[in-house]
Amino acid sequence: MDRTSEWLSTFNSRNEISSQILDSTKSETQIISITGGKGGVGKTSISLKLARELVEKGRKVLLIDSDYNLSNTAIKLGLPLNNTFYSLVSAEKVFEDCLYKDGNFHLLSASNGCLDLFDADFSLEEIVIDILNEHAKEYDFVLIDCPAGLTKQSLTLNAYSDKRVVVVTPDKSSITDSYSLIKVLSMKYGIKENHLLVNMVSQKQQFSKVVKTLSETVENYLGCRTHILGGLRRLNVAAGQFDSEFLTPGKNSLHQNFLQVVERLTEKKSVRAMRREQEVH
Ligand SMILES: Nc1ncnc2c1ncn2[C@@H]1O[C@H](COP(=O)(O)OP(=O)(O)OP(=O)(O)O)[C@@H](O)[C@H]1O
Ligand SMILES: [Mg+2]
Repeated sequence: MDRTSEWLSTFNSRNEISSQILDSTKSETQIISITGGKGGVGKTSISLKLARELVEKGRKVLLIDSDYNLSNTAIKLGLPLNNTFYSLVSAEKVFEDCLYKDGNFHLLSASNGCLDLFDADFSLEEIVIDILNEHAKEYDFVLIDCPAGLTKQSLTLNAYSDKRVVVVTPDKSSITDSYSLIKVLSMKYGIKENHLLVNMVSQKQQFSKVVKTLSETVENYLGCRTHILGGLRRLNVAAGQFDSEFLTPGKNSLHQNFLQVVERLTEKKSVRAMRREQEVH
């Protein structure tokens, strides 16, 4: 049995992470999944901007689009669509040949309504974890843009990641879906820590309310900790202009907020600082 199957079968039999296997496969690379349960909350936009800002800071980043047959990363970057992900799944191509590269930014895009992929019998989580085992060490950060929904595939990748950015909006259904995601991650995979990013905020009180509601509920009912990354305001631009407006660095407050989010997500805390934080909470 290879490492990936071994790691996955640990979940199936014991529902908890085998830290021994995790430790042996991970290096200094940080694997971060951008997730949230609900659709359309900004996961892909945030993944792309996060990748761009990390590269801007001199880091090497791989972004994996795990929305494997409804891929949006290439579309948002204005790149031609292709079926390289199917080529990877069917072993027609190797990982290296499936990447789009722009300097230190590498993208493993996915497919769009590919019928062969739809019919293919494959395990997404095994494919992605194999890629991580083999190639994550070549990068400073590996970001995984997750699809909407509570699929086993997606949650396994969330659990495998070092950090999970749970993207939520002030919408009640988004808060409920994020809670459901955190609950399943906690109860099925033993994941007790997540990062929270509130997107599409129109008023400051909305942000505080979402943070309070979600972090208190997951703490009280699930015993989970939530690290607050911050809030991003709702941009009032025409739908077709959002991607370029959001992804282009500007002097606007949203961009400045995003830089703070990146700081908080990537800061390395000393053990002492973490203990202090635990005492405060
Ligand atoms: N801060 C924001 N202000 C205004 N509109 C936003 C903001 N963030 C996202 N959007 C809008 O929401 C749309 C959906 O964003 P995105 O595709 O990133 O969400 P998603 O969570 O990846 O969706 P899916 O679940 O379908 O993968 C964007 O195209 C944009 O129009
Ligand atoms: Mg998306």
